[in-house]
Amino acid sequence: MQRIFSGIQPTGVPHLGNYLGAIRNWAALQTSHECLYCVVDLHAITADHDPKTLAGSTRDLAASLIACGIDPAKHILFNQSAVHAHVRLGWIFTCVARMGWLNRMTQFKDKAGKDRENVSTGLFTYPNLMAADILAYHATRVPVGEDQKQHIELANDIAEKFNHDMGTDFFPHIEPMIMGPAARVMSLRDGAKKMSKSDASDQSRINLTDDAETIALKIKRAKTDPEPLPSEAEGLESRPEARNLVGIYAALMDTDHAHVLKQFGGQGFGAFKSQLADLVVEKLAPIASETRRLLADPAHVDSVLRDGARRAAALANPIVDEAERLVGFLKP
Ligand code: TYM
Repeated sequence: MQRIFSGIQPTGVPHLGNYLGAIRNWAALQTSHECLYCVVDLHAITADHDPKTLAGSTRDLAASLIACGIDPAKHILFNQSAVHAHVRLGWIFTCVARMGWLNRMTQFKDKAGKDRENVSTGLFTYPNLMAADILAYHATRVPVGEDQKQHIELANDIAEKFNHDMGTDFFPHIEPMIMGPAARVMSLRDGAKKMSKSDASDQSRINLTDDAETIALKIKRAKTDPEPLPSEAEGLESRPEARNLVGIYAALMDTDHAHVLKQFGGQGFGAFKSQLADLVVEKLAPIASETRRLLADPAHVDSVLRDGARRAAALANPIVDEAERLVGFLKP
């Protein structure tokens, strides 16, 4: 059985992009793969964070993941800082990766913007730690949204250089799994920007915790164009906002753009948006209520994470011990 690793940052509340691009696929893959899912709190401190709320958001996100169907009994759910193997291998990879490789990362460019001199060095070296997250388990499949593809390619470059430099074939090749019609969910306010936790406008995203009324209002106000919906998927090509809403509908219905347009092609956005809102509410409401139920017992969520970290460490430690031996460290 192939081993999967994926992660999500505990910054802000998870949104529909995280759900459709990643979490929902994570849940589905549990029947066919051995899965490790990680709340990446080490990554969360690469940008300014509030030390008073990090632990709480880590727990909240773990509860949301369980509510979305991640099964911590059959698979492994944990928070990254609890397994030290990530940092150990992350340091080795920081010494393997080249400045030029990291300089090409578009996410760093986006996040650093014009403030390059003032962002943390952790934000720059972040993809090395992400490579370590995956490779510390010799995981070979990584279900992610489209925005993470470049980081997975970099992880492969790092693994190959490590193997080459140490004269080994120790680290395997990794394949990203970018799945479904909503692998890149866009902002509801601007079809050129991805839906993101860090967008200043809450109207740009649907949070997994939003209530029915909020969801309906956000979808009603979502930016569109004046044309009716096209009847064929090709008609969405130069219409990013329409394409985004149709993609969300298709993903939630487990179908594709063409199928949705068969039903709604030729109609205006009014009727479509109201059905889309009903569908989003129908899918997200049970997740929000299950998350609330789980968080009524925070000690239980913590014990699930503790158990996950123990099992994750048992898998990662021997792999990272061997990587350290290959690097040449004395292991007295
Ligand atoms: P993060 O926390 O930004 O996002 C978590 C997952 O959600 C996906 N995603 C989206 N998918 C579709 N549309 C969107 N608008 C959207 N926004 C986010 C992301 O692609 C991701 O799959 N670096 C990662 C976390 C990470 C990781 C890892 C992932 C750390 N280590 C190892 C995989 C393997 C991140 O910041 O994801």
